[in-house]
Amino acid sequence: MRSLMFNVVTSALLLVQNAVAGPQAPAATGASKGVPRTWNGTNYECKCYVGDSCWPNLQKWNTLNATVGGNLRISTPPAAPCYNSYQSPWGNISTYDAAQCASITANFASEQFQIDLPTAGLWTYFTNDTCRPTTNPTDTCTPGYYPVVVIMAKKTSHIQAGIRFASQNNLRLIIRNTGHDFLGRSVGWGALVINTHSFQDVAFTNSWKGAGTYKGSAVTVGAGVQAINVLKMAHALDPPKVMVTGECATVGVAGGLVQGGGHGPLTTLKGFLADTALEFEVITADGVPRKANAKTNSDLFWALRGGGPASFAVIVSATYKTFDDVVSTGTLLNINTTHTTNATLFWQAVTTFHSYSNHFVDNGLYVYYELGTTGQNLHVQPFVGIGKTPAQLQAVLKPLFDDLDAMGIKYDTSTKSFKTFFDLYIDMFEGEAAGNSALTGGWTASRTDVAKNNAGIISAYQNVLNNGAFIVGHMWNAGAGVPAAEWNNSAVNPRFRDASDKVITIVPIGGNAPLADKAAAQQKLTYVVDGGLRAAAPNGAAYINEADPFQPNWQEAFWGTNYPRLLTLRQKWDPNGVFYAVSTPGTEKWEQIEYGTRLCKKV
Ligand SMILES: Cc1cc2nc3c(=O)[nH]c(=O)nc-3n(C[C@H](O)[C@H](O)[C@H](O)COP(=O)(O)OP(=O)(O)OC[C@H]3O[C@@H](n4cnc5c(N)ncnc54)[C@H](O)[C@@H]3O)c2cc1C
Ligand SMILES: *[C@@H]1O[C@H](CO)[C@@H](O)[C@H](O)[C@H]1NC(C)=O
Ligand SMILES: *[C@@H]1O[C@H](CO)[C@@H](O)[C@H](O)[C@H]1NC(C)=O
Ligand SMILES: *[C@@H]1O[C@H](CO)[C@@H](O)[C@H](O)[C@H]1NC(C)=O
Ligand SMILES: *[C@@H]1O[C@H](CO)[C@@H](O)[C@H](O)[C@H]1NC(C)=O
Ligand SMILES: *[C@@H]1O[C@H](CO)[C@@H](O)[C@H](O)[C@H]1NC(C)=O
Ligand SMILES: *[C@@H]1O[C@H](CO)[C@@H](O)[C@H](O)[C@H]1NC(C)=O
Ligand SMILES: *[C@@H]1O[C@H](CO)[C@@H](O)[C@H](O)[C@H]1NC(C)=O
Repeated sequence: MRSLMFNVVTSALLLVQNAVAGPQAPAATGASKGVPRTWNGTNYECKCYVGDSCWPNLQKWNTLNATVGGNLRISTPPAAPCYNSYQSPWGNISTYDAAQCASITANFASEQFQIDLPTAGLWTYFTNDTCRPTTNPTDTCTPGYYPVVVIMAKKTSHIQAGIRFASQNNLRLIIRNTGHDFLGRSVGWGALVINTHSFQDVAFTNSWKGAGTYKGSAVTVGAGVQAINVLKMAHALDPPKVMVTGECATVGVAGGLVQGGGHGPLTTLKGFLADTALEFEVITADGVPRKANAKTNSDLFWALRGGGPASFAVIVSATYKTFDDVVSTGTLLNINTTHTTNATLFWQAVTTFHSYSNHFVDNGLYVYYELGTTGQNLHVQPFVGIGKTPAQLQAVLKPLFDDLDAMGIKYDTSTKSFKTFFDLYIDMFEGEAAGNSALTGGWTASRTDVAKNNAGIISAYQNVLNNGAFIVGHMWNAGAGVPAAEWNNSAVNPRFRDASDKVITIVPIGGNAPLADKAAAQQKLTYVVDGGLRAAAPNGAAYINEADPFQPNWQEAFWGTNYPRLLTLRQKWDPNGVFYAVSTPGTEKWEQIEYGTRLCKKV
């Protein structure tokens, strides 16, 4: 049904486009020089967009469509069927469809529904929110920062064709897997998208025979595989297996997650997802399929392990270590206005909770918590003890509960144990919603910071809440479970090897808020909310996948001492800037000018 929506408008649109663009310029010769623009006193060369003379003509699009097996589609905003007309870059098209509108409206908050759409962005701020579901079909639906054309890739050759087409025609290229991205990296104004969601192959082995010294069990997953699917399949093995994934069940495991690092409940025990990678099959910016592992293209292998999404290559498949799943125990903790309305007491409790973050990670735990989501509330769901019995987990948590009891605060807690971590994961982790608009940022406090300045960190958290933002925290340490000699096998910031609490800060703001309000929210996030965290935890780091896109000093914050090597590798593997994601290695000269639209390089 949804794909029909795209088919209906597709061919017509390309005809309209041809009519609007008029006779086409002669075929571009090789890589285009870029469209010259001047913005705010600076000269740029930009990617080609609809209406530019270098935008490919209909014949070229049709040739591409044939190359990709007819899987080229026009991209329309997901809620376009709720509007009489979608004001596409090619002119107005009729889009109203009551049944489709009802379906999109009912499912707008469903992650999986949005993931399955060709180009939706689950956090809508960076779509610019110009076409949300509405009950008034005469409202205006414009493209915002949505892409315009998408290849629903089914085969490796389709990805190759998309990369080559974007490169030869100088188009903005987006790789879109699940669309989870907080920083807006899976959408982009006027872009061509390669959607990798169809790459769903999963293959397990008990003995990895490829490059490197590791000989144990492993899994090879296609680019589109989501955590929950591979975890379910691994759990069904005998004996049940598990792998490192994010805490979020629907995030992909071979797209942005591993290229940013990928932390989750197993991280304190096994490191980042990137640390467990054994091999990637990729297409590089020149359109060539390659392997990357410890022997072949080992520099690329390193960069793909946490060096930044959509920067070095498009991943087609990834192979990761798997581990035997084991008995696990989880504990919940809630302290909110049901338990106390005394703010002083509440913050004393939060300070105490946080003072134990080093203790938790030093004892192998992972802790997921929310702070300030409903005002004065701390919601820990859960403390995770993988390989721990209830008695063992409770022994680790005892000092915390003793302290809470001593300060006379009420709280809610419960503990459950499971045969495997997978059972815990399904039972205790909560689902998440799509369709919200917010700016996100965050910072990671190191063990050193917590030891030296826990009270200062809590003041900074209070400052976050006082500014209308809230916190999602993840206590883990990515150094504990990985031998120090192997830390540099991944490109992630070495500072994460001493991490204790990695928080996301969330500043709610509509994607369609007035520009001045957006600028104010961005300033607040960067300098007030996150500024306070950086000052309180100077030995910390920022995590590229859960970050402020405009993180100051981003090279150092995201990659630390690994940045210079990543910059060299970006210049080697993507010298012409075929790929782009904000604040990734080598993008210093690139900018989305004209209010976040045209992607251009300073000249
Ligand atoms: C609710 C929620 C929970 C989260 N929980 C965690 C967590 O526990 N741990 C954690 O580490 N992160 C977490 N994240 C952040 C997550 O790591 C990022 O959103 C990540 O970018 C998602 O990757 P994706 O491929 O699924 O999504 P997409 O949005 O489709 O892609 C993200 C980025 O990766 C690029 N990309 C995607 N596929 C490929 C490919 N095949 N080749 C090259 N580039 C590609 C895209 O171009 C884009 O830049 C969470 C995010 C959300 C929204
Ligand atoms: C234009 O540039 C100035 C100085 O570099 C900067 O302060 C301002 O924010 C820029 N304006 C826009 C709209 O980008
Ligand atoms: C691509 O080809 C398919 C099959 O012929 C067709 O249905 C689709 O509309 C075409 N896409 C575009 C964007 O023209
Ligand atoms: C498209 O439709 C809108 C209102 O639905 C109208 O204001 C606008 O003029 C139309 N544009 C074109 C090019 O027809
Ligand atoms: C994006 O949204 C802002 C308002 O927040 C608006 O001023 C701007 O025109 C929009 N741009 C696009 C391309 O939709
Ligand atoms: C709130 O808690 C603090 C710290 O325990 C205590 O000193 C204070 O008296 C309490 N306030 C009230 C009104 O109970
Ligand atoms: C407070 O915690 C209880 C569980 O102890 C929960 O049922 C309730 O929804 C929470 N309230 C708020 C406002 O978060
Ligand atoms: C990792 O590399 C960094 C920078 O290249 C270096 O400072 C550090 O000592 C290395 N760490 C290990 C454990 O080899």
